[in-house]
Amino acid sequence: MDKIKKALEKVEKMEENAQVKGAVSSQKLTKELVPIYTKTRVVPIDEEVLLKNKIYSYFPDNPLTEQLRILRTKIINKLEKLNGNTILITSARPGEGKTLISINLAISIAQKYDRTVLLVDSNLKNPMVHTYLGIQVDKGLSDVLLGEAHIHEVLINPSIPRFIIMPAGKKVVGSAELLNSPSAEVIFHEIKTRYPERLIIFDSPSVLTCADPLVLADYADAVLMVIEAEKTPAEDIEEAVKLLQEKPLIGVVLNKVRE
Ligand SMILES: Nc1ncnc2c1ncn2[C@@H]1O[C@H](COP(=O)(O)OP(=O)(O)O)[C@@H](O)[C@H]1O
Ligand SMILES: [Mg+2]
Repeated sequence: MDKIKKALEKVEKMEENAQVKGAVSSQKLTKELVPIYTKTRVVPIDEEVLLKNKIYSYFPDNPLTEQLRILRTKIINKLEKLNGNTILITSARPGEGKTLISINLAISIAQKYDRTVLLVDSNLKNPMVHTYLGIQVDKGLSDVLLGEAHIHEVLINPSIPRFIIMPAGKKVVGSAELLNSPSAEVIFHEIKTRYPERLIIFDSPSVLTCADPLVLADYADAVLMVIEAEKTPAEDIEEAVKLLQEKPLIGVVLNKVRE
């Protein structure tokens, strides 16, 4: 705990320095135009892209609405009971619908509750959140973890109220190690605690293909498991749940159910 406190003080100092640096550069004005983000960047969003990519929660009367309503209520209630604010969304294998569920759930919660939702694309191996939203991104989580960007610089609001994303950032080798580093512990603590009323969702890679979600689970209060109907083998589900058994399982989404 002491370690975290010390490190946090260091981060705060770094941010103070960053602000001071900003003040200096703004004095120089034309010489050094360093962008200083005092507010989260807002980027426009294309409704057609959202529809094409099945981000149905953006649209009223969409086919997913009812299921999402039930899921979001369940999640909010369970998180409250756990006194937590962070969930990890994962599944056994790739392609089962983690990213799609993450985005739809995040937007659905942001629309209903007077509460900001931060969706962190913590799939450093195959980041897809920005692609599904049809937005261009630059820096993200990996850059923050590498000490090459500040949290506030990489956050984006895709023109949906109370919905903020943190893109994954540049590709890195050894993502599990990066996520597991001492500085990552400090940064995730900062993400979780700076705005305690925020709900944070980690969209992650799959449990049976890499160690990343197991590391990320340490920073989350609960896990939401996505299962692909008629596809994910029972042994895979069992193994995935077992690997994450130390975290409360907040729910299971049976995805891609045929009507
Ligand atoms: N409920 C669903 N209905 C139809 N297609 C879906 C559904 N969930 C996911 N998909 C599709 O399956 C593919 C993989 O989904 P994705 O969310 O990227 O999976 P993951 O993040 O688990 O790898 C995408 O093409 C996505 O559009
Ligand atoms: Mg994904």
